[in-house]
Amino acid sequence: MTSSVFTIHNHQDQQTAQLGFITLGIESSCDETGIGLYHSEIGLIGHQLFSSVEIHAEYGGVFPELASRDHIKRVLPLIKIVLAEAQFTLQDLSGIAYTAGPGLAGALLVGAAVAKSLAWSLDIPSLAIHHMEGHLLVPLLEEPQPKFPFVALLVSGGHTMLIDVKAIGQYKILGESLDDAVGEAFDKTAKILGLGYPGGPALAILAEQGNPGTFKFPRPMIDRPGLDFSFSGLKTFARNTFAKHPNKKADIAKAFEVAATQTLMIKCIRALEQTKYTTLVVAGGVSANLSLRKELNQMGKKVGANVFYPRQEFCTDNGAMIALVGHFRLSRGQCDTHHEISIKPRWNLEKLSQIE
Ligand code: KG4
Ligand code: ZN
Repeated sequence: MTSSVFTIHNHQDQQTAQLGFITLGIESSCDETGIGLYHSEIGLIGHQLFSSVEIHAEYGGVFPELASRDHIKRVLPLIKIVLAEAQFTLQDLSGIAYTAGPGLAGALLVGAAVAKSLAWSLDIPSLAIHHMEGHLLVPLLEEPQPKFPFVALLVSGGHTMLIDVKAIGQYKILGESLDDAVGEAFDKTAKILGLGYPGGPALAILAEQGNPGTFKFPRPMIDRPGLDFSFSGLKTFARNTFAKHPNKKADIAKAFEVAATQTLMIKCIRALEQTKYTTLVVAGGVSANLSLRKELNQMGKKVGANVFYPRQEFCTDNGAMIALVGHFRLSRGQCDTHHEISIKPRWNLEKLSQIE
């Protein structure tokens, strides 16, 4: 493995920095192009994000071909900006990490092709990163850091999972959604209420004005044992309630949010009981939701668990999380071959390799 010697212009500890391993992270799995730069001795030294969400808004959801085309436009300028802001150059990089899946195939191919081509031309290693491992580990950028082992609640637009995390790369899925992911349920319910795309944050804002007592939505699957989820029924409940009460949008948003967040909270208690762990890490786009955070913080106090989240900007997709996981793995010698550009639109988190 090569670790490049680089020039550094304005960091205080020039000598320490020169010993560092510098990882560039590229995220392009959906509608956000994210770039991150991680330095082994300093930590995260730069990140940039470009969201193509406005392009997709008129279609009411992500238009995959347009997302791919936008990644192609954005990825190199963003890499240039991140390197320039950190006062590094391409020659300073020690390795390049990219999201290889899960995600939209065309979008993933953009990040993979750029990462592999750059790594090949610079003669440095590249590595395929699992998008959900990025979400799962990005709270390690915060202080205080969560300590292993922990239960992770991953709540995004594509996944709802409870995971037993023993160490980096040692993941056992304890439960997941049997139908819609919770973020997807937020988005679909928002669409029913005419809130546009992406709906999650808009629904959360509307819910702030809602009365929690007007409607009571079910808490799906809490009567059944186990840690799986089902959120498609909540969206249907919202549709039926809205058809009868078209003037009660805020109350419906509130009832949906309370039901979704309480369901997540109940399953988190079960997962903590089952594993006997006292640390819960919550990540993915829906972890930005303040009502969910409030619910889980109260739960943590009640059951004696510490609850950790990423900072708001790292809840949704970003390049920092890919740079971080890339750093963990590349700096320990893991890497891809340069021979082919391949992606994994479907990828089982439990199949990832462990690192010491
Ligand atoms: O992790 P993410 O950026 O992308 C995926 O990997 O899917 O998550 C996006 C999801 C969307 O469904 C979005 O509506 C939801 O996270 N989301 C929220 C909030 N912010 C983002 N849902 C509820 N409340 C929020 N504040
Ligand atoms: Zn994501």
